[in-house]
Amino acid sequence: MSWEFSDFLAACQHRVQQALPARLQNTGSEFADIDASKHLNTLGEASLYSLMNGGKRVRATLVYATAQALNSDIDGLDDIACAIEMVHAYSLVHDDLPAMDNDELRRGKPTCHIAFDEATAILVGDALQARAFELLANLPGNNADTKLALVRQLSAAAGPRGMVGGQAIDLASVNQQLDLHSLQTMHQLKTGALIRVAISMSASWCQASPAQAAKLDEYGKAIGLSFQVQDDIIDIESNTETLGKTQGADQALNKPTFPALLGMPGAKALAAELHERALDALSEFDERAAPLRALSHYIIDRQH
Ligand code: IPE
Ligand code: IPE
Ligand code: MG
Ligand code: MG
Ligand code: MG
Repeated sequence: MSWEFSDFLAACQHRVQQALPARLQNTGSEFADIDASKHLNTLGEASLYSLMNGGKRVRATLVYATAQALNSDIDGLDDIACAIEMVHAYSLVHDDLPAMDNDELRRGKPTCHIAFDEATAILVGDALQARAFELLANLPGNNADTKLALVRQLSAAAGPRGMVGGQAIDLASVNQQLDLHSLQTMHQLKTGALIRVAISMSASWCQASPAQAAKLDEYGKAIGLSFQVQDDIIDIESNTETLGKTQGADQALNKPTFPALLGMPGAKALAAELHERALDALSEFDERAAPLRALSHYIIDRQH
């Protein structure tokens, strides 16, 4: 059987792309009239714009690839994949705001605050985040313990000891020279946490054994960091059209990055080392982990 990673990625992207729009709407609420007018409503329109404007869907793909590695059915994982993509989309909308990175281009299109306005972009982030947790709380089935575990995992990864904490360190570090340890911590929090949790939430849902969950988490930690190392590399080496975001944004804002600290060869060597670490963590998994292995390679090879 020939297996193509590009087919797997395309299938996952298609799956989550189909699943997302309906999950933006509230169903069966007493406010059905508000939902019915969603497309006329700026907040709904801007939320849809920010969620559906492209995106590689790496985090959703990791959810499905983890289930495949565990030989689990991927049915039932769409809500988890969508919840994580919603938190991610919210983080991007806020990351681009003038008070943060002040970016005008995201996924090849005007950022949310440019296409709409700043207040709307703030509310879009708030709405996407709340909706993500609502999705988890409303997961079908009577598995309250599993739902609680998933809410715990995502809230920790998104919060002050996760993505938001990393973003706070990022903003406080402009014009500073961080040491390697602090830079790694910042990257692990602002980007690594949400990537890592995509794998661990899927592992929880699929009832991975503690040993499997630990190995998958080791993998997640490695690729979570390599993802942001490569993001820093392509901010310098790629171009605005390929990136779909403004090339050179980190240098323009004097952000501490891996290429700035280690030099470009050092940053690339670190990405390669993290890829090896990710593969080592999967050594006891069989060929069903092929998509996870390929995703690690994709993450350090991508140009956007
Ligand atoms: C960009 O994430 C922001 C970071 C956390 C580095 P992605 O590169 O996954 O962005 P999309 O979702 O594909 O646009
Ligand atoms: C973003 O890091 C991390 C987030 C939590 C969104 P960056 O600021 O480097 O992401 P891009 O390069 O704007 O996508
Ligand atoms: Mg940023
Ligand atoms: Mg940014
Ligand atoms: Mg970046």
